[in-house]
Amino acid sequence: MDKFKNHGEMFLGVWYNKTSVEPILSQEECSMLKLDLSKLKGFIPEDYLTSRQDRLAKAAEMVAAHTGPGGDFTGWVTLPRDYDKEEFARIQAAAKKIQKQSQALVVIGIGGSYLGARAVIELLLSQNYNLKKKDTPDIFFAGNGLSTDYLLELIDLIGDRDFSVNVISKSGTTTEPAVAFRIFKALLEKKYGKEGARERIYATTDKARGALKGLADAEGYEEFVVPDDVGGRFSVLTAVGLLPIAVSGIDIDALMAGARQAMEELSVPGLDNPAWQYAAARHGLYQNGKSIEVLAGYEPRFRFFAEWWKQLYGESEGKDGKGLFPASVEFTADLHSMGQYIQDGERLMFETVVKFLPDGEYAIPDDPANVDGLNFLSGKPLAFVAEQAMRGTILAHVDGGVPNVLLELPQISAKSVGYLIYFFEYVCGLSGHLLEVNPFNQPGVEAYKKNMFALLGKPGYEDLKAELEAKL
Ligand code: PA5
Repeated sequence: MDKFKNHGEMFLGVWYNKTSVEPILSQEECSMLKLDLSKLKGFIPEDYLTSRQDRLAKAAEMVAAHTGPGGDFTGWVTLPRDYDKEEFARIQAAAKKIQKQSQALVVIGIGGSYLGARAVIELLLSQNYNLKKKDTPDIFFAGNGLSTDYLLELIDLIGDRDFSVNVISKSGTTTEPAVAFRIFKALLEKKYGKEGARERIYATTDKARGALKGLADAEGYEEFVVPDDVGGRFSVLTAVGLLPIAVSGIDIDALMAGARQAMEELSVPGLDNPAWQYAAARHGLYQNGKSIEVLAGYEPRFRFFAEWWKQLYGESEGKDGKGLFPASVEFTADLHSMGQYIQDGERLMFETVVKFLPDGEYAIPDDPANVDGLNFLSGKPLAFVAEQAMRGTILAHVDGGVPNVLLELPQISAKSVGYLIYFFEYVCGLSGHLLEVNPFNQPGVEAYKKNMFALLGKPGYEDLKAELEAKL
């Protein structure tokens, strides 16, 4: 380490070159995730971690042993090691086939059957993936809502290009993707005939149950499985996420390797385990009056990852009248909108900042006239400005009564993203147990579905339909 000291500068445990934002140490030499909880001081009792040691140990034990509330849905815990290797090879082969046969892939799914793939593709390849010059297909998402305008625009965007469809539904009965699939199946059959359509439809669903399983069997589509013991919001590292992610060209081996590293590191019990620390901090903050956790990213391409994170925590913790409300912001853009509330509004929240090391570099040009007065920044990397904005924001928010958690990772890569996915999943499991809820069910999601079926006139819902219509 000493050899770097003469020409480097240390920030958040990583050595940087003084004149650029390139880290001097390679990604392998940096530990994958650094958790800074120093900005919680004064907001929660100093013993927030030690006082939860026994409960954390019990939570970790339940997660590892697949016991406790929802234990039947903890297959995700060992997935990065025990995933189905034969199916993984089929996913890679199917991705290659789709890349070859299509200029566009329509991924049909909602909630846990949608957000993970979109989060990873955008975070690793950009929110502008479809606009980029590339030799992989455009990827469009459908079945994640019921908007007619969205659907019409999507059909228009695909135009006369060759396309394939990956329909994803664990239950196989969710209305939004089922309706979208009906539409895109008909479009494919019209364009390519029944035989041709069969060659372009990939169904990811339960191995035995559900309408989609029946349809896929009957039509002879290539099928991938959502494992029984993995719930939707924990399924990004199954075929649910992996097939669309692989079609985009992302290295899914590296993604799984990052998740596996997290699995191995975070399964070691102890108070120096960052997952234990983050779970304890969240729970301590919740018990000390905070009801909202705001996830803050500094990269526009992080936006959908935050959407995935919101589902993960919202569906896992928000039950029995309990749970932190997960929200997200994109900085620095939202500092000019939500920043006011965070700094100065009701003191309900704490912030979790996710910071990746920058990748590219762009130096701010000099302007001899200096009319904007910015020459004190001439030659400095833009990332340096972003760094100071982040440091300044954290300090301002902490001063304003918003405790801060900082998660720092190496550059955005398939490996670091795989690591972060698993980290958040694992903390989510521990957190749910600390909160004494079942972190792996989602009974609340069913309420709207029942009402919608009744109002739509689904057979079997006649009484409820009458009851609801009387209330409208
Ligand atoms: O996390 C969940 O279970 C939900 O968000 C589901 O993923 C979502 O409702 C879609 O369900 P399905 O995959 O059964 O169509």
